[in-house]
Amino acid sequence: MAILKIARMGHPVLAERAKEVPDPTAREIRKLVEDMHETLADIRGAGLAAPQVHIGKRLVIFAAPKERSEEGEEEDAPETDFSPMTEIINPEWQPLSDEMAMGWEGCLSVPGLTGAVARHTHIRYRGYSPQGQLIDREATGFHARVFQHEFDHLDGILYPMRMDDLSLLVFTEEAQKFGLPEIEGEEEPEEDASEGISEDEGAAA
Ligand code: NI
Repeated sequence: MAILKIARMGHPVLAERAKEVPDPTAREIRKLVEDMHETLADIRGAGLAAPQVHIGKRLVIFAAPKERSEEGEEEDAPETDFSPMTEIINPEWQPLSDEMAMGWEGCLSVPGLTGAVARHTHIRYRGYSPQGQLIDREATGFHARVFQHEFDHLDGILYPMRMDDLSLLVFTEEAQKFGLPEIEGEEEPEEDASEGISEDEGAAA
């Protein structure tokens, strides 16, 4: 196992379309997944895509634990809001409704910043595990957001490229001092809903 170096915005590997993995069960993929887990644990992020560790392959890992739910830890939050640590190869997805919601995101490849991004709130995604099993899930809330964020990395898209309003792109450190800017149309900023805003900036993806 090894802790891998994170590619930052500007590195060409983050701008390219990652390649399909011909055999999700290949030994080299299993090794990469192990190293990505170790890297993600070290930086305490929510998710990581292979291009972020300089590997242009269609593979992401992420988790959407209860404490990061967009709805908080309420007991009535749907199960689709949450995901255990997941490794998914050659993923595909589709929206299950037209509804989009703004939420704060951070990215390990764009360190120090956080921005508000509109994402689909209800999606279905599919792909394969490193054991070759089909993963087919519905996702809502933070779970849907983190998946879309990681998937974008496979198509060379970083979250600032999804932003319509760059006044909502701020340094995390300043946001911790002065608070997050208000998102138009939202009653209050959902501070605990974000990947990027936390005491340590490692909650990015
Ligand atoms: Ni990211």
